[in-house]
Amino acid sequence: MKVLGIESSCDETGVAVFEGRRGVLAQALHTQVDLHAVYGGVVPELASRDHIRLLPVLVRQTLREAGLDIADLDAIAYTAGPGLAGALLVGASVAEAMALAAGIPALPVHHLEGHLLSPLLSDEPPAFPFVALLVSGGHTQLMRVADVGDYELLGETLDDAAGEAFDKTAKILGLGYPGGPQLAALAMRGEAGRFNLPRPMLHSGNFDFSFSGLKTAVLNVASKPDWRMEYQADLAASFQQAVVDVLAAKAMAALERTGLRSLVVAGGVGANRALRGKLDAAAAEIGARVHYPAPELCTDNGVMIAFAGAQRLMRGERPSAEQAINVRPRWPLGELVRPSAGRFAASP
Ligand code: KG4
Ligand code: ZN
Repeated sequence: MKVLGIESSCDETGVAVFEGRRGVLAQALHTQVDLHAVYGGVVPELASRDHIRLLPVLVRQTLREAGLDIADLDAIAYTAGPGLAGALLVGASVAEAMALAAGIPALPVHHLEGHLLSPLLSDEPPAFPFVALLVSGGHTQLMRVADVGDYELLGETLDDAAGEAFDKTAKILGLGYPGGPQLAALAMRGEAGRFNLPRPMLHSGNFDFSFSGLKTAVLNVASKPDWRMEYQADLAASFQQAVVDVLAAKAMAALERTGLRSLVVAGGVGANRALRGKLDAAAAEIGARVHYPAPELCTDNGVMIAFAGAQRLMRGERPSAEQAINVRPRWPLGELVRPSAGRFAASP
């Protein structure tokens, strides 16, 4: 079963072909970082236009590299949400149009499901069930994952997502876009113990998070009269440590509560080295293991969408015959149901 995957939910244009037994046959990824950098953040209209410009090129290139024609494909999976409405519509239109032309199904995929399942592509994939910590620019969630499509939300952020907190704090510190990786790089040179920032909701007794107060705490420190630019790396490190401490503590508590010993970390913030170090150490203490996607699969890409689509098809899901270009900029992951339930699960 060969599935073409298309990702265009934000500022990355990703295309890939996944084959059930052989894995990833070809992939292409274009990041729009340079395009948005001058504005200090993603400009939705520019993102859509760039997806339009590049998607047909990358699709052709990926098919050529895989040695395939559109007629060889079994399905086309695309990110139908959550994400930027215009950007999602580009991927949805291309996918639905190609599928119609080829007479094959187009499969709307939930972006977070793509992230969530991407560690299954690693050499030593985790077995179901596991706990997933989803930490991206738009979401921070802890989930119990029983199977593809069987997700129980344990807790989530009440305000900013972890990646969003990194990005906003980076802005406060005068760093460029994308802020998360830049702040992480700066933090490597800093002393995390210098500033005692709050650990929001650490002892809330549930699996929810709150990160918006943390950026205010950073702003307060940086606005004090005795603030000196030479503390910048220390403040970055102190902020990063506060986020990492809360994420790790709650992830471990989720393992304890569910009795599971496998933690999957997905989403852009999963690339953070300090987070990985802390999670690995904390998991080792309770005899648990942490699974990460390959570094190139941590941020947005077409592979995870092709893979998630293939997983659903292999479990018997069949998209409705009705062709429609629908996207869901806001799409709660909890609305997905297991494909084995025998009906079209991911209808947007
Ligand atoms: O999953 P992703 O690529 O896109 C979304 O679906 O949101 O995540 C992007 C987020 C951004 O907020 C970015 O700043 C953050 O992940 N990020 C990081 C790191 N790399 C990416 N945050 C902290 N440390 C990193 N190394
Ligand atoms: Zn993402």
